Amino acid sequence: MGPAARLRLTVTGQGAAPASVGQTVLEAALDAGLQLPFGCQRAECGVCRIQAEAGLEAPGRLEALTLRAFGCPPGVRLACQARLAADATVRRLPSDS
Ligand code: FES
Repeated sequence: MGPAARLRLTVTGQGAAPASVGQTVLEAALDAGLQLPFGCQRAECGVCRIQAEAGLEAPGRLEALTLRAFGCPPGVRLACQARLAADATVRRLPSDS
């Protein structure tokens, strides 16, 4: 495999950063100095919830289980688990929503 394809991650209200296909949203954001809340990084705490409309791979089994456990509506994802597939724009959520 060649180098991962480059894409753009935008965090609403903060800015945009280069990222790589397959990177998690959290990794890409932190690498770029963008602020996203996080805790466990293991799909357990839900602190890293974001709203994302497009550009992410479908949730994996672990992420899907956690989103269901928290009763998250469609479009909410875990930044520590959600992997980038294309240019994406995400928005922080209050951790108590
Ligand atoms: S940091 Fe805990 S679920 Fe993502």
